[in-house]
Amino acid sequence: MRTPYELRLEESLGFLRSWAKGGFVPKVAVVLGSGLSGVFPKASFVQSISYNDLPGFKTAAVKGHSGGLGLIEVSGIQVAVLQGRVHGYEGYDPGEVTHNLRTLIRWGARHVVLTNAAGCLIEDWKTGEVMVITDHINATHQNPIAGAFGSGFGERFVDMTEAYSKRGVDLAAQALAAAGGAAYTGVYYGVAGPSYETPAEVRLFRQQGAHAVGMSTVLETLAARQLGAQVMGLSCLTNFAAGIKGEALAHEDVLATGASGQAIMATVLPKIIPDFSKG
Ligand code: HPA
Repeated sequence: MRTPYELRLEESLGFLRSWAKGGFVPKVAVVLGSGLSGVFPKASFVQSISYNDLPGFKTAAVKGHSGGLGLIEVSGIQVAVLQGRVHGYEGYDPGEVTHNLRTLIRWGARHVVLTNAAGCLIEDWKTGEVMVITDHINATHQNPIAGAFGSGFGERFVDMTEAYSKRGVDLAAQALAAAGGAAYTGVYYGVAGPSYETPAEVRLFRQQGAHAVGMSTVLETLAARQLGAQVMGLSCLTNFAAGIKGEALAHEDVLATGASGQAIMATVLPKIIPDFSKG
């Protein structure tokens, strides 16, 4: 039996296959998070389309997520770029949150690069830098694999020992260091949001072994691993998490610091993607 999510995916996939020109089949899927949707300039896309015009796709409503799919070739590798994602806090369930990415994976992307804006939990790190995600803690209390089960998405019980590809972590850290970045690596703590954390929560997350906190990514990683894709995660550290420096947090500040992260990602992603796609 196919679940409603699987049926919706078939609909989106059928559309994409007939819409994409020249036999384009992505090897890599990239998701661009808050303030990062300009990592690939619009002119570099061979084709692009708004989520609004894509059957079955959900539309991102949050400022900083422009909401469209772009197709691009990076050193001869065909890459599908999701400019903006939908979040659980907008009222979407985990199946909806992961639909756009699942569709690209089923289309052909065996490698996934997830980017996001995140709060930094480490006092002596620098904001504006990028952290490579080595692992995550899913504190959203949600899971896209839960619920009615259809084998079209993979196994019911999914191994998460290497949720984030070790090869991907090494490739990304090397590229960031070569670009003069801090090349931080660490654990991403995924929360449901949309309120930012309290200082007490931030202290707890730190004690639990996390280095950054954000409101996305973990559900996508779970869905991607179930489908057998390799995942790389990159967090732009846009701010210190609540209580670390005693300043109040604002989404506008997150977007402003995201510009620095966007520049770093624009430099390193074209270098990382071809190597990542080959393993
Ligand atoms: N907390 C949660 N999500 C975030 C943050 C934060 O401090 N910054 C950017 N996304």
